[in-house]
Amino acid sequence: MQGVHLESLSTLNYRNLAPCTLSFPAGVTGVFGENGAGKTNLLEAAYLALTGLSDVTRLEQLVQSGEGEAYVRADLESGGSLSIQEVGLGRGRRQLKVDGVRVRTGDLPRGSAVWIRPEDSDLVFGSPSGRRSFLDALLSRLSARYAQQLARYDRTVSQRNAALRSGEEWAMHVWDDALVKLGTDIMLFRRRALTRLSELAMEANTALGSRKALALSLTESTTPETYAEDLKGRRAEELARGSTVTGPHRDDLALTLGGFPASEYASRGEGRTIALALRRAELELLSERFGEKPVLLIDDFSAELDPARRAFLLDLAASVPQAIVTGTERAPGAALTLRAHAGRFTPEPQETRTPEDLSPDSQEVGA
Ligand SMILES: Nc1ncnc2c1ncn2[C@@H]1O[C@H](COP(=O)(O)OP(=O)(O)OP(=O)(O)O)[C@@H](O)[C@H]1O
Ligand SMILES: [Mg+2]
Repeated sequence: MQGVHLESLSTLNYRNLAPCTLSFPAGVTGVFGENGAGKTNLLEAAYLALTGLSDVTRLEQLVQSGEGEAYVRADLESGGSLSIQEVGLGRGRRQLKVDGVRVRTGDLPRGSAVWIRPEDSDLVFGSPSGRRSFLDALLSRLSARYAQQLARYDRTVSQRNAALRSGEEWAMHVWDDALVKLGTDIMLFRRRALTRLSELAMEANTALGSRKALALSLTESTTPETYAEDLKGRRAEELARGSTVTGPHRDDLALTLGGFPASEYASRGEGRTIALALRRAELELLSERFGEKPVLLIDDFSAELDPARRAFLLDLAASVPQAIVTGTERAPGAALTLRAHAGRFTPEPQETRTPEDLSPDSQEVGA
C-alpha cells in the first residue's frame, strides 16, 4: 500500500525548535539526542502540520516563549499529488492553509499521520474521558459526518445544561428531541466502528505476544432504543444537578484484559501493550479508510524497555512507507539519522557496517 509522504517540515518559533526546514526520505528517519533536545516537539510539530490536530489545552504553549506567533508547514505527497499545509498559531488562534487557501481543521486530509508516544498508557489507566476522546478523535477522522454530529451534540449538551441550570423545564422537550436524534447517531456510529476497531486491536495485542485476550466494548449510559425514555426518567435529577447525565458524552470505551477491567487490573507493561495495540488499530483503520498508510510518528522508542514491545515498534516503523522515530539512542536501520541538540537537527553519517555485519549469516541488530 502507498503512503502519505512528508517531504519536508518547516517550523518557526515553535516551542524550543530553531527555525528550520527538514527533508524526510521514504523509510525510517531516526531522531536521537539528549533529554530536552526537542525530539517530542519535532513530532508534535509534524503531527500538527500533517493533521491540523493538537491536544494542548492552550495553543500559546506551542509558541516559543518571548514570541507572539508560531508557524509550521508540511510539504507532503498524498494520493499522487503534492500539497503544502500551513498552520499559523498565535493568541489562542489557529489558522490553517492548504496550498495558500484558508481551510478549517476538518478540511485537512484526515488520514495523514498517527502518533505513538509513551503517554498513550494514559488511555488505559486514565479516566473514561481520555478513552472517549481517543474514540471520538479517531471516528471524527474516519467520518466527517461523525465529526459534525459530535460537534452539534456537544453544543446541544451545553445549551441543554444552561437550560437545566435556569430551570427551564418547559423547554426540555425541545432539547431532548435534539439530543436523542444526535446522540442516537453517535451511539450507532460508535457501535458499528467498534466491531472493526476491536478486531484490529485484538490482532495487534496477539502480535505483541500478549497471552491474555484484549476486548473492547462500549459502556453506555443509555441505548438508542431507550434514550428518550431515560432522559425523561432522570429529568428531576438533571434539573437538580443542572447537568445532562445521560448520553454518549458519558460513555466509556471499556478495555478488558483476560476478562478484567484493564484500568484497574493491568500491570504497567500490560497497559503499554494495550495502548500500543490501540495505536496500531488506529493506523490500520485509517489505512483501510483512506487507502494509503499514514506517516507514522513514534516518540521515544528507547523509553520502551520491554524487548518485545521495542521490536514491535521498530518493526511497525519499518513496515510503513514513512516513519519518524525518536529516542535517546539511535534507531537501528534508519534511512536517515538526525542528531537533536538544543532545538536543532543535524544529519549524522550512516552507521558504518563491518564486513561481518554484511555477511549473509550475520544477525541483524535487534533481531
Ligand atoms: N513554548 C516553548 N518555548 C520554548 N521552549 C519550550 C516551549 N515549550 C517547551 N519548551 C522546551 O522544549 C524543550 C524540549 O522539549 P521536548 O519535549 O521536545 O524534549 P525531548 O527531546 O523530547 O526530551 P525527552 O528525551 O526528555 O523526551 C524542553 O526543554 C522544554 O522546556
Ligand atoms: Mg520527548
